[in-house]
Amino acid sequence: MSKKKVAILISGRGSNMSALIEAAKAPDFPAEIVGVLSNKAAAPGLEIAASHGIATASLAQSKFPSREMFEDTMTLMLESWEVDIVCLAGFMRVLGEDFVNRWEGRMINIHPSLLPAYKGLDTHARVLAAGEKEHGCTVHFVTPGLDEGDAILQARVPVLPDDTEDTLAARVLVEEHRIYPEALKQLALGKM
Ligand code: GAR
Repeated sequence: MSKKKVAILISGRGSNMSALIEAAKAPDFPAEIVGVLSNKAAAPGLEIAASHGIATASLAQSKFPSREMFEDTMTLMLESWEVDIVCLAGFMRVLGEDFVNRWEGRMINIHPSLLPAYKGLDTHARVLAAGEKEHGCTVHFVTPGLDEGDAILQARVPVLPDDTEDTLAARVLVEEHRIYPEALKQLALGKM
């Protein structure tokens, strides 16, 4: 079996990245993680990736004259790793249309809500404020519209009466770590 080469884009702690790295260690997993790219040099996930022997790079958008040049440089980096699939895992930058179109059908994201509900930021706080009884997470294809691409997998969790943002986020995160590797597996196997 030839494994698909995957790059993970992060901005922070990288717990979803870690879940993907762990899953990809299984000999029969159809994808391998070849690189982790962060837009923040201080992202804790970079050190974790390096500790697994995975290539890492950080590129700060502020160092580039334009978003296009920043994203073109990301593309060069991804091409140097011969990437087939890009996984966004807490990558907190909106990507431009050219970059998104270049990776159409090959770039996926994990979002902490039951899309199409609660696109954007602060999903847990907004779910609590709205008095929802149910929340969850979605792995979806990345398209130019923010959090709008087709869903690959979703997981649901209950919202409990005494939940805080933190307890709810933690319950959702467990499910994120479960469905993201499964969604990557399906994409790598061409089941999408
Ligand atoms: C995750 O909860 C992910 O779903 C969310 O950021 C967190 C990153 O955590 N992503 C978004 O909100 C994207 N809009 P991690 O760095 O530990 O994976």
